[in-house]
Amino acid sequence: MRTSAIIVAAGSGSRLAVGQPKAFVTVGGRTMLCHSLSTVAALAELVEVVVTVPGAMENEARAEARRAGLNVPVKVTEGGAERQDSVRIALGLTSAESELVVIHDAARPFAPLALFERCIEAAVRSGAAIAAIPAADTLKRVEERRILETVPRAGLYQAQTPQAFRRQLLIAAHEHARTRRISATDDADLVERLGEIVEIVEASALNLKITTRSDLEIAEAIAATLAR
Ligand code: CTP
Ligand code: MG
Repeated sequence: MRTSAIIVAAGSGSRLAVGQPKAFVTVGGRTMLCHSLSTVAALAELVEVVVTVPGAMENEARAEARRAGLNVPVKVTEGGAERQDSVRIALGLTSAESELVVIHDAARPFAPLALFERCIEAAVRSGAAIAAIPAADTLKRVEERRILETVPRAGLYQAQTPQAFRRQLLIAAHEHARTRRISATDDADLVERLGEIVEIVEASALNLKITTRSDLEIAEAIAATLAR
């Protein structure tokens, strides 16, 4: 199926706090954005890439797209206030010709091509699929630093990106959310709220999301291992 990739990279990286937007911070010698762009560049049936960036970073993003060697059109746009707004803006720019959309956070630079492919294959079959890993730690619900309860972790997964959807389904989910003022931290949630099935594709903890300084240190170690 003809596929559009959306890379959301418009966040400021306030928790990382290194003085520049997170997606433009380097890991293993390349920006996080460049890592994801190079991976999606290898997708079969890719028709375009839409990238959301903070205002005034559009030219930098285009330079990263050239570095990544993309040979499909790249649309760069300023993102919105929240991640969900950025995805909605990017989705609005996708070509009506594409049947599938795969969304990825620039903050996960190590998502392998095979993970994108497995999410896309699952979404072709069932309409929606996301990368996720089973919860490994014992989970506690806490209020004011006191444990209220232990949450049984059986059946609990941590959602990641990539997340792939039939394009029309995702448009409907975002429209449903916008009119009802629903906000969510991932796109699967918006599709779930339509009552649609979303499949899980088992991923790995190597598909790290870089949020804090210590994540960045772990990321450099992963990058060094992958380079060997
Ligand atoms: N993102 C986006 N638009 C926003 C907020 C986030 O495109 N308004 C993107 C980020 O660039 C990132 C992904 O969504 O690739 C996940 O967001 P997160 O990890 O929270 O990144 P930041 O928002 O940049 O970090 P922080 O919350 O610490 O400021
Ligand atoms: Mg954020």
